[in-house]
Amino acid sequence: MAVAELPLTLDRNSPTPLAAQVAAQLRRAILEGTVRPPHHLPSSRRLAADLGVSRGVVVRAYEQLTGEGYLESHGAAGTRVAVRADMRADVRAPVRTAPPRPRAEPPRPVIDLTPGRPSDTPFQDRSWRTAWREALAEPGHVDLPPALGTPRLRAAIAGHLVTARGLAVDAEDILVTAGTSDALQLIATALRTRSPAPRVLVEDPGYPTARRVLAAAGARVQTLPVGPDGLRAAQLTSLDPAPDAVLITPSHQYPLGGRMPVQERLALLEWAAEHRVLLLEDDYDSEFRHRRMPLPATASLPSQAEVALLGSFSKTLSPWLRCGYLVVRGASGHLVKETRTSLDTPVCGVLQSALAHYIDDGGLARHTARARRGYAHRRALLLDRLTDRPDLEIDALEEGLHAVVRLPAPVDAEDLAARALAHGVRVVPLAPYYAHQPPENGLVIGYGAPTDLQLTRALDILLQLIDTTVPPGGQDRT
Ligand SMILES: Cc1ncc(COP(=O)(O)O)c(C=O)c1O
Repeated sequence: MAVAELPLTLDRNSPTPLAAQVAAQLRRAILEGTVRPPHHLPSSRRLAADLGVSRGVVVRAYEQLTGEGYLESHGAAGTRVAVRADMRADVRAPVRTAPPRPRAEPPRPVIDLTPGRPSDTPFQDRSWRTAWREALAEPGHVDLPPALGTPRLRAAIAGHLVTARGLAVDAEDILVTAGTSDALQLIATALRTRSPAPRVLVEDPGYPTARRVLAAAGARVQTLPVGPDGLRAAQLTSLDPAPDAVLITPSHQYPLGGRMPVQERLALLEWAAEHRVLLLEDDYDSEFRHRRMPLPATASLPSQAEVALLGSFSKTLSPWLRCGYLVVRGASGHLVKETRTSLDTPVCGVLQSALAHYIDDGGLARHTARARRGYAHRRALLLDRLTDRPDLEIDALEEGLHAVVRLPAPVDAEDLAARALAHGVRVVPLAPYYAHQPPENGLVIGYGAPTDLQLTRALDILLQLIDTTVPPGGQDRT
C-alpha cells in the first residue's frame, strides 16, 4: 500500500505521543476495513520519512499493533496487516449457547493460554539471523562441542547474568544445558554418584515437569506444602535426615507467584550449609518483572551453602531452542561438571555459537526489553478485564508471563477448563501443580503467547462461562 493511501495525520500539539497517534489511527483503519490483510505496510523508515517523524515512532507503533495482533512482522519481508475488519465482530461475539457442533466440523482454533509459552520469538529478527549466519561461517568445526559449553557462550552468559540479574559469576562456573529439565536430570545423575537414590525436596504446589524429570532420573522426590511465597525455613528443621537437595523458586513461586523474603532465604541458606544440602534455585522468569524490583538471587547471597542456579532461555527466547544454563560452584559444581564430562552430552555447537553472537551483539537484551513491553501490556489488559470482578482473586502477576485466577464456588476449575476448551480456549487448572496438598480451585493463565485480541476474546469466553455456571444438579449450561 502506498504511503499516501494510509490515512494518517499527526497532531504535534497533542499530549498523545506520536507513536500512540500512529498506532491508534492505523488500528482504526484496520478495524474500519480501510486497510486489510494481506496488505504490506510501508517500511518503518519510509513511513517515518513520509510523516516527518523519527523511525523509532513508527517502530513503536508497529510493535504495539503487532503485540495486539493487528499486524504481523515478517522480518526482512516487512509488516503486514493481520486482521480483517469483520474479525472484530468475532472478538466481541458472545459465547455460543447452542448445543456442541456435530463432529464432522473442523475443530475450532484454540487460543492457547497454557503457561510457559513466551510471545513471538526473535527468529525473524535481523540480529538473530545475523548471529546464525556468523555461527555458520565459523571455520573448521569438526569436533564434538565442549561438554560444559563453548567458552564464548559461557562468557556471554556470565555477562548476561550481570546485566539481567546483577549476578557476578565466573564463566568457569557456568555450564550450558538444554534447559532446566536437562539441568535437573544432570544434577540427579550427579547426586546418584554419592547416594543411589538421592532425596530431592520440592515445593508443593510446584513445577510438575521437575517432579517427573527428577523421578525419572532416579531421585526420590519428596514434597513440602508451601504457600504463595514458597517454603519457610522453619519447615525444614524437623526433616530428619535432611534431603540431598531442595528445589525452590524463590523469585517467583511456581505457580502461585509470591517471592521468598530475604530473611527466609538467609535462614534457608544457613540450614543448607549446616546440613550440607544443595539448593537448586529455579530462576525461570525473573527477566520479566513488571512492577517491583527483583530480589537478588539466593545464589548471590553470602553463605557457606552450595546453591545451583538454574536458568533457561525458554522464556526469554523460546522453548524450541532447548537451551539454558546452570551456575554451580564448590564441591557440587565439581561433581556436576565431572558428570557432564563423563556423559559427554553437549548442547548443539552451532546453537551455542549463534546464541553467543546474539548475546554479545545485544540482541538478547533488545529482544527481552521488547518482549517485556508486550507482556506488561497484556498483563494490564488482563487486569483491566478481571479486576472489576470481586468474585475472582488474581495473583502471580508481579513477574513473569502467567497469572493465577482463583475461582468462586460453584465454579470448578477443571470443569471450567474443559468447557473453555470446547469453546476454543485452553487454560490449565491449578490441580496438576499440586502433588499431595489438596489443590486450590483456580486456573493458571499464560498471557505470554496470545495476541491482545486473542487474550481479550479468551477472557471474555472464560468470564461468560463462569457467569453461566450453575451449581451441580442445576439447569443446563453452555
Ligand atoms: C517453573 C519452570 N522452570 C523452568 C522452566 C523452563 O524449563 P526448560 O528450560 O526445560 O524449558 C519452566 C518453563 O515453563 C518453568 O515453568
